[in-house]
Amino acid sequence: METIISRIDMEKIHILQDIMSDKEALDIIDKASDILRNGGLVAFPTETVYGLGGDALDAEASGKIYRAKGRPSDNPLIVHIAEEKALYDIAAQVPDVALKLSQAFWPGPLTMILKKQDKVPDSITGGLNSVAIRMPSNIVAMALIKKSGVYVAAPSANTSGRPSPTTAAHVEEDLSGKIDMIIDGGPVDIGLESTIVDLTEEVPVILRPGYITKEMLEAVVGHVETDKGIREDNNGEAPKAPGMKYRHYAPCGKLTIVEAENGDYEKAAAVINSMAQEKMAQGYKVGILTTDENKNFYDCDAAVMSVGNRREEISIASHLYAALREFDNIHAEYIYAESFSRENVGQAIMNRLMKAAGGSIIKV
Ligand code: TXA
Ligand code: MG
Repeated sequence: METIISRIDMEKIHILQDIMSDKEALDIIDKASDILRNGGLVAFPTETVYGLGGDALDAEASGKIYRAKGRPSDNPLIVHIAEEKALYDIAAQVPDVALKLSQAFWPGPLTMILKKQDKVPDSITGGLNSVAIRMPSNIVAMALIKKSGVYVAAPSANTSGRPSPTTAAHVEEDLSGKIDMIIDGGPVDIGLESTIVDLTEEVPVILRPGYITKEMLEAVVGHVETDKGIREDNNGEAPKAPGMKYRHYAPCGKLTIVEAENGDYEKAAAVINSMAQEKMAQGYKVGILTTDENKNFYDCDAAVMSVGNRREEISIASHLYAALREFDNIHAEYIYAESFSRENVGQAIMNRLMKAAGGSIIKV
Protein backbone atom coordinates (compact mmCIF):
# COMPACT_ATOMS: atom_id res chain seq x y z
CA MET A 1 0.00 0.00 0.00
CA GLU A 2 1.22 3.49 -0.73
CA THR A 3 1.12 5.78 2.28
CA ILE A 4 0.02 9.36 1.56
CA ILE A 5 2.12 11.85 3.54
CA SER A 6 0.59 15.31 3.87
CA ARG A 7 2.17 18.19 5.70
CA ILE A 8 0.16 20.92 7.36
CA ASP A 9 2.06 24.19 7.48
CA MET A 10 1.91 24.88 11.21
CA GLU A 11 3.53 28.30 10.74
CA LYS A 12 0.19 29.68 9.71
CA ILE A 13 -1.98 27.53 11.98
CA HIS A 14 -2.40 28.54 15.61
CA ILE A 15 -5.94 27.73 16.66
CA LEU A 16 -8.49 25.17 15.54
CA GLN A 17 -10.34 27.78 13.52
CA ASP A 18 -7.20 28.40 11.42
CA ILE A 19 -7.38 24.82 10.16
CA MET A 20 -11.07 25.10 9.41
CA SER A 21 -10.50 28.26 7.38
CA ASP A 22 -7.30 27.27 5.56
CA LYS A 23 -8.09 25.48 2.30
CA GLU A 24 -4.89 23.47 2.12
CA ALA A 25 -5.12 22.28 5.74
CA LEU A 26 -8.80 21.56 5.46
CA ASP A 27 -8.28 19.48 2.31
CA ILE A 28 -5.82 17.31 4.24
CA ILE A 29 -8.21 16.90 7.18
CA ASP A 30 -11.08 16.09 4.80
CA LYS A 31 -9.04 13.44 2.99
CA ALA A 32 -7.96 11.89 6.31
CA SER A 33 -11.55 11.98 7.59
CA ASP A 34 -12.74 10.08 4.52
CA ILE A 35 -10.10 7.44 5.13
CA LEU A 36 -11.18 7.02 8.78
CA ARG A 37 -14.88 6.84 7.87
CA ASN A 38 -14.06 4.13 5.33
CA GLY A 39 -12.24 1.96 7.84
CA GLY A 40 -8.68 3.04 6.93
CA LEU A 41 -5.77 4.17 9.10
CA VAL A 42 -4.34 7.67 9.54
CA ALA A 43 -1.37 8.67 11.69
CA PHE A 44 -1.73 12.14 13.19
CA PRO A 45 0.04 14.36 15.73
CA THR A 46 -1.21 14.77 19.29
CA GLU A 47 0.39 16.91 22.01
CA THR A 48 2.01 13.78 23.50
CA VAL A 49 3.17 11.52 20.64
CA TYR A 50 1.90 10.70 17.14
CA GLY A 51 -1.11 8.38 17.14
CA LEU A 52 -2.21 5.73 14.63
CA GLY A 53 -5.93 6.31 14.23
CA GLY A 54 -8.81 4.15 13.09
CA ASP A 55 -12.59 4.18 13.70
CA ALA A 56 -12.95 2.97 17.31
CA LEU A 57 -16.34 1.37 16.78
CA ASP A 58 -15.23 -0.53 13.67
CA ALA A 59 -13.66 -3.81 14.80
CA GLU A 60 -12.08 -4.34 11.37
CA ALA A 61 -10.30 -0.99 11.49
CA SER A 62 -8.88 -1.85 14.90
CA GLY A 63 -7.69 -5.19 13.51
CA LYS A 64 -5.70 -3.21 10.95
CA ILE A 65 -4.13 -1.09 13.69
CA TYR A 66 -2.89 -4.20 15.54
CA ARG A 67 -1.49 -5.68 12.32
CA ALA A 68 0.27 -2.48 11.18
CA LYS A 69 1.97 -2.09 14.57
CA GLY A 70 2.58 -5.77 15.21
CA ARG A 71 0.86 -5.18 18.55
CA PRO A 72 -0.25 -8.03 20.85
CA SER A 73 -4.07 -8.28 20.72
CA ASP A 74 -4.43 -8.19 24.53
CA ASN A 75 -3.07 -4.64 24.63
CA PRO A 76 -6.07 -2.27 24.45
CA LEU A 77 -6.29 1.02 22.54
CA ILE A 78 -7.16 4.54 23.72
CA VAL A 79 -10.30 6.11 22.22
CA HIS A 80 -9.82 9.77 21.28
CA ILE A 81 -12.80 12.10 21.47
CA ALA A 82 -13.33 15.80 20.74
CA GLU A 83 -16.37 16.58 22.91
CA GLU A 84 -17.15 15.77 26.51
CA LYS A 85 -20.56 14.39 25.65
CA ALA A 86 -18.86 11.52 23.82
CA LEU A 87 -17.92 10.22 27.28
CA TYR A 88 -21.54 9.24 27.89
CA ASP A 89 -21.70 7.45 24.56
CA ILE A 90 -18.63 5.31 25.20
CA ALA A 91 -18.50 4.88 28.98
CA ALA A 92 -21.18 2.95 30.85
CA GLN A 93 -20.69 5.09 33.95
CA VAL A 94 -19.26 8.58 34.24
CA PRO A 95 -18.41 9.13 37.91
CA ASP A 96 -17.98 12.60 39.43
CA VAL A 97 -14.21 12.22 39.51
CA ALA A 98 -14.20 11.73 35.73
CA LEU A 99 -16.10 14.97 35.25
CA LYS A 100 -13.80 16.86 37.61
CA LEU A 101 -10.72 15.53 35.84
CA SER A 102 -12.08 16.19 32.37
CA GLN A 103 -12.90 19.76 33.35
CA ALA A 104 -9.44 20.28 34.80
CA PHE A 105 -7.28 18.55 32.18
CA TRP A 106 -9.17 18.09 28.90
CA PRO A 107 -8.38 18.70 26.21
CA GLY A 108 -4.94 17.49 27.24
CA PRO A 109 -2.56 14.63 28.05
CA LEU A 110 -4.80 12.64 30.41
CA THR A 111 -6.42 9.27 29.64
CA MET A 112 -9.22 7.96 31.85
CA ILE A 113 -10.18 4.31 32.21
CA LEU A 114 -13.94 3.86 32.66
CA LYS A 115 -16.43 0.98 32.39
CA LYS A 116 -17.30 0.56 28.72
CA GLN A 117 -20.59 0.58 26.83
CA ASP A 118 -21.43 -2.59 24.88
CA LYS A 119 -20.98 -0.84 21.54
CA VAL A 120 -17.24 -0.49 22.18
CA PRO A 121 -15.83 -3.61 20.51
CA ASP A 122 -13.89 -6.09 22.66
CA SER A 123 -11.20 -6.07 20.01
CA ILE A 124 -10.08 -2.56 21.04
CA THR A 125 -10.26 -3.19 24.79
CA GLY A 126 -8.35 -6.44 24.67
CA GLY A 127 -11.44 -8.15 26.06
CA LEU A 128 -11.57 -5.91 29.18
CA ASN A 129 -14.90 -4.43 30.30
CA SER A 130 -13.30 -1.00 30.60
CA VAL A 131 -12.22 1.51 27.97
CA ALA A 132 -9.47 4.16 27.85
CA ILE A 133 -10.67 7.61 26.76
CA ARG A 134 -8.76 10.81 26.04
CA MET A 135 -9.49 14.22 24.53
CA PRO A 136 -6.26 15.49 22.95
CA SER A 137 -5.47 19.22 22.80
CA ASN A 138 -3.41 19.18 19.59
CA ILE A 139 -5.48 21.14 17.09
CA VAL A 140 -4.74 18.83 14.14
CA ALA A 141 -5.98 15.90 16.23
CA MET A 142 -9.02 17.90 17.31
CA ALA A 143 -9.84 18.90 13.72
CA LEU A 144 -9.52 15.30 12.54
CA ILE A 145 -11.78 13.84 15.25
CA LYS A 146 -14.40 16.56 14.76
CA LYS A 147 -14.38 16.47 10.97
CA SER A 148 -14.40 12.69 10.67
CA GLY A 149 -17.29 12.37 13.09
CA VAL A 150 -15.87 9.10 14.43
CA TYR A 151 -14.28 8.23 17.76
CA VAL A 152 -10.66 7.61 16.95
CA ALA A 153 -8.89 4.60 18.47
CA ALA A 154 -5.21 5.47 18.44
CA PRO A 155 -2.17 3.83 19.98
CA SER A 156 1.19 5.49 19.51
CA ALA A 157 2.11 5.31 15.80
CA ASN A 158 5.25 3.19 16.19
CA THR A 159 6.01 -0.44 15.50
CA SER A 160 5.18 -2.25 18.73
CA GLY A 161 8.18 -2.18 21.09
CA ARG A 162 10.01 0.71 19.41
CA PRO A 163 10.20 4.20 20.94
CA SER A 164 7.00 6.21 20.36
CA PRO A 165 7.13 8.67 17.46
CA THR A 166 7.49 12.37 18.20
CA THR A 167 7.79 13.46 14.55
CA ALA A 168 6.08 12.40 11.32
CA ALA A 169 9.47 11.12 10.10
CA HIS A 170 9.51 8.60 12.99
CA VAL A 171 6.07 7.36 11.91
CA GLU A 172 7.29 7.05 8.35
CA GLU A 173 10.30 4.99 9.51
CA ASP A 174 8.02 2.45 11.18
CA LEU A 175 4.76 2.41 9.25
CA SER A 176 5.32 3.64 5.70
CA GLY A 177 3.59 1.24 3.27
CA LYS A 178 1.43 -0.22 6.07
CA ILE A 179 -1.11 2.57 6.63
CA ASP A 180 -3.17 4.86 4.39
CA MET A 181 -1.98 8.28 5.47
CA ILE A 182 0.35 10.26 7.72
CA ILE A 183 -0.50 13.85 8.64
CA ASP A 184 2.70 15.74 9.38
CA GLY A 185 1.87 18.45 11.90
CA GLY A 186 5.44 19.07 13.04
CA PRO A 187 7.19 17.79 16.17
CA VAL A 188 4.95 17.14 19.19
CA ASP A 189 5.09 19.28 22.37
CA ILE A 190 5.34 16.85 25.27
CA GLY A 191 7.02 13.80 23.78
CA LEU A 192 5.83 11.21 26.34
CA GLU A 193 2.48 9.40 26.25
CA SER A 194 -0.47 10.64 28.32
CA THR A 195 -0.94 9.97 32.02
CA ILE A 196 -3.40 7.08 32.42
CA VAL A 197 -5.70 7.10 35.44
CA ASP A 198 -8.01 4.21 36.25
CA LEU A 199 -11.38 5.41 37.56
CA THR A 200 -13.08 2.03 37.76
CA GLU A 201 -12.15 1.55 41.44
CA GLU A 202 -13.03 3.54 44.55
CA VAL A 203 -9.72 5.46 44.52
CA PRO A 204 -8.21 6.70 41.23
CA VAL A 205 -5.06 4.79 40.31
CA ILE A 206 -2.29 5.99 37.99
CA LEU A 207 -1.48 3.19 35.55
CA ARG A 208 1.07 5.16 33.51
CA PRO A 209 2.81 8.38 34.64
CA GLY A 210 2.92 11.32 32.23
CA TYR A 211 2.97 15.09 32.02
CA ILE A 212 -0.06 15.33 34.35
CA THR A 213 1.47 14.29 37.66
CA LYS A 214 0.00 12.61 40.74
CA GLU A 215 0.17 15.95 42.57
CA MET A 216 -1.79 17.69 39.79
CA LEU A 217 -4.48 14.99 39.91
CA GLU A 218 -4.65 15.08 43.71
CA ALA A 219 -5.19 18.84 43.67
CA VAL A 220 -8.45 18.14 41.82
CA VAL A 221 -9.78 14.85 43.24
CA GLY A 222 -7.94 14.21 46.51
CA HIS A 223 -6.03 10.99 47.17
CA VAL A 224 -4.72 9.16 44.09
CA GLU A 225 -2.71 5.94 44.13
CA THR A 226 -0.03 4.60 41.80
CA ASP A 227 -0.37 1.09 40.38
CA LYS A 228 2.03 -1.14 42.36
CA GLY A 229 2.96 -2.92 39.14
CA ILE A 230 4.62 0.17 37.65
CA ARG A 231 6.73 1.08 40.68
CA GLU A 232 10.46 0.46 40.45
CA ASP A 233 10.10 -1.78 43.53
CA ASN A 234 7.14 -3.74 42.10
CA ASN A 235 8.36 -7.13 43.43
CA GLY A 236 7.29 -8.79 40.22
CA GLU A 237 3.66 -7.60 40.46
CA ALA A 238 2.14 -7.18 36.96
CA PRO A 239 1.06 -3.68 35.86
CA LYS A 240 -2.69 -3.17 35.45
CA ALA A 241 -2.34 -1.50 32.03
CA PRO A 242 -1.52 -4.43 29.74
CA GLY A 243 0.82 -2.24 27.67
CA MET A 244 3.05 -1.49 30.65
CA LYS A 245 4.17 -5.09 31.03
CA TYR A 246 6.04 -5.23 27.74
CA ARG A 247 9.64 -4.14 27.29
CA HIS A 248 8.68 -1.08 25.46
CA TYR A 249 9.97 2.23 24.17
CA ALA A 250 13.16 0.34 23.55
CA PRO A 251 16.10 1.01 21.24
CA CYS A 252 17.73 -1.99 19.54
CA GLY A 253 20.93 -1.73 21.58
CA LYS A 254 21.23 -2.87 25.20
CA LEU A 255 20.47 0.14 27.39
CA THR A 256 21.79 0.46 30.94
CA ILE A 257 21.06 3.36 33.30
CA VAL A 258 23.85 4.43 35.63
CA GLU A 259 22.73 6.31 38.72
CA ALA A 260 25.05 7.89 41.27
CA GLU A 261 23.93 8.87 44.77
CA ASN A 262 22.92 12.50 45.39
CA GLY A 263 22.97 13.35 41.68
CA ASP A 264 26.75 13.03 41.45
CA TYR A 265 26.82 12.98 37.65
CA GLU A 266 30.59 13.23 37.45
CA LYS A 267 30.84 9.96 39.37
CA ALA A 268 28.22 8.30 37.13
CA ALA A 269 30.10 9.56 34.06
CA ALA A 270 33.36 8.02 35.26
CA VAL A 271 31.64 4.62 35.49
CA ILE A 272 29.95 5.11 32.12
CA ASN A 273 33.27 6.11 30.51
CA SER A 274 34.96 2.96 31.72
CA MET A 275 32.09 0.64 30.73
CA ALA A 276 31.92 2.30 27.31
CA GLN A 277 35.66 1.93 26.80
CA GLU A 278 35.51 -1.74 27.69
CA LYS A 279 32.73 -2.40 25.13
CA MET A 280 34.46 -0.35 22.45
CA ALA A 281 37.69 -2.28 23.01
CA GLN A 282 35.65 -5.41 22.22
CA GLY A 283 34.62 -3.81 18.93
CA TYR A 284 31.09 -2.74 19.84
CA LYS A 285 29.39 0.50 18.82
CA VAL A 286 28.51 2.42 22.00
CA GLY A 287 26.15 5.33 22.67
CA ILE A 288 25.88 7.57 25.73
CA LEU A 289 22.76 9.48 26.72
CA THR A 290 23.60 12.62 28.66
CA THR A 291 22.44 16.21 29.19
CA ASP A 292 23.84 19.61 28.21
CA GLU A 293 25.42 20.24 31.60
CA ASN A 294 27.20 16.86 31.75
CA LYS A 295 28.33 16.14 28.22
CA ASN A 296 31.86 17.36 28.89
CA PHE A 297 32.36 14.58 31.43
CA TYR A 298 32.64 12.07 28.58
CA ASP A 299 36.09 11.68 27.15
CA CYS A 300 35.70 8.43 25.22
CA ASP A 301 34.90 7.97 21.52
CA ALA A 302 31.34 6.74 22.06
CA ALA A 303 28.44 8.55 20.36
CA VAL A 304 27.54 11.06 23.08
CA MET A 305 24.03 12.44 22.74
CA SER A 306 22.44 15.15 24.88
CA VAL A 307 18.67 15.04 25.43
CA GLY A 308 18.52 18.61 26.69
CA ASN A 309 19.01 20.71 29.75
CA ARG A 310 18.19 19.36 33.21
CA ARG A 311 16.65 22.70 34.19
CA GLU A 312 14.03 22.22 31.46
CA GLU A 313 12.61 18.80 32.22
CA ILE A 314 10.00 19.14 29.53
CA SER A 315 12.65 19.53 26.85
CA ILE A 316 14.23 16.29 28.08
CA ALA A 317 10.84 14.57 27.87
CA SER A 318 10.26 15.83 24.36
CA HIS A 319 13.68 14.68 23.08
CA LEU A 320 13.99 11.33 24.83
CA TYR A 321 12.39 9.09 22.20
CA ALA A 322 14.12 10.86 19.31
CA ALA A 323 17.45 10.23 21.06
CA LEU A 324 16.66 6.53 21.55
CA ARG A 325 15.78 6.26 17.85
CA GLU A 326 18.99 8.07 16.92
CA PHE A 327 20.97 5.34 18.72
CA ASP A 328 19.22 2.84 16.44
CA ASN A 329 20.16 4.90 13.37
CA ILE A 330 23.82 4.74 14.28
CA HIS A 331 23.47 1.02 15.19
CA ALA A 332 24.57 1.44 18.79
CA GLU A 333 24.89 -1.99 20.42
CA TYR A 334 25.40 -0.77 23.98
CA ILE A 335 23.90 2.42 25.35
CA TYR A 336 24.60 3.96 28.75
CA ALA A 337 22.25 6.60 30.12
CA GLU A 338 22.44 8.98 33.05
CA SER A 339 19.45 8.92 35.38
CA PHE A 340 16.96 11.70 36.03
CA SER A 341 15.16 13.10 39.04
CA ARG A 342 11.89 11.34 39.82
CA GLU A 343 10.05 14.57 40.62
CA ASN A 344 7.19 15.91 38.48
CA VAL A 345 7.65 14.99 34.79
CA GLY A 346 10.85 13.24 35.88
CA GLN A 347 8.64 10.39 37.09
CA ALA A 348 7.42 9.77 33.56
CA ILE A 349 10.90 10.24 32.09
CA MET A 350 12.40 7.63 34.45
CA ASN A 351 9.44 5.30 33.92
CA ARG A 352 10.04 5.26 30.15
CA LEU A 353 13.82 5.10 30.48
CA MET A 354 13.55 2.17 32.91
CA LYS A 355 11.28 0.34 30.50
CA ALA A 356 13.60 1.07 27.58
CA ALA A 357 16.38 -0.41 29.72
CA GLY A 358 14.29 -3.46 30.62
CA GLY A 359 14.86 -2.43 34.27
CA SER A 360 18.65 -2.49 33.98
CA ILE A 361 20.01 0.16 36.36
CA ILE A 362 23.41 0.26 38.04
CA LYS A 363 23.65 2.30 41.23
CA VAL A 364 27.16 3.60 42.01
O1 TXA B 1 -0.52 9.94 24.72
C1 TXA B 1 -1.08 8.90 24.44
O2 TXA B 1 -1.81 8.29 25.27
C2 TXA B 1 -0.89 8.34 23.03
C3 TXA B 1 -1.53 9.31 22.04
C4 TXA B 1 -1.52 8.79 20.64
O3 TXA B 1 -2.83 9.62 22.47
N1 TXA B 1 -1.41 7.02 22.91
C5 TXA B 1 -0.82 5.95 23.49
O4 TXA B 1 -1.45 4.74 23.21
O5 TXA B 1 0.16 6.02 24.19
P1 TXA B 1 -0.75 3.34 23.45
O6 TXA B 1 -1.66 2.38 22.80
O7 TXA B 1 0.64 3.37 23.00
O8 TXA B 1 -0.86 3.11 25.00
C6 TXA B 1 -2.12 2.83 25.58
C7 TXA B 1 -1.91 2.28 26.95
C8 TXA B 1 -1.41 0.86 26.93
O9 TXA B 1 -0.45 0.70 27.97
C9 TXA B 1 -2.67 0.07 27.26
O10 TXA B 1 -2.38 -1.16 27.86
C10 TXA B 1 -3.41 1.01 28.19
O11 TXA B 1 -3.18 2.27 27.60
N2 TXA B 1 -4.87 0.77 28.20
C11 TXA B 1 -5.75 0.98 27.22
N3 TXA B 1 -6.99 0.60 27.58
C12 TXA B 1 -6.89 0.15 28.86
C13 TXA B 1 -7.82 -0.38 29.79
N4 TXA B 1 -9.11 -0.53 29.50
N5 TXA B 1 -7.36 -0.75 31.01
C14 TXA B 1 -6.05 -0.60 31.34
N6 TXA B 1 -5.12 -0.09 30.48
C15 TXA B 1 -5.52 0.28 29.26
MG1 MG C 1 2.55 2.89 22.66
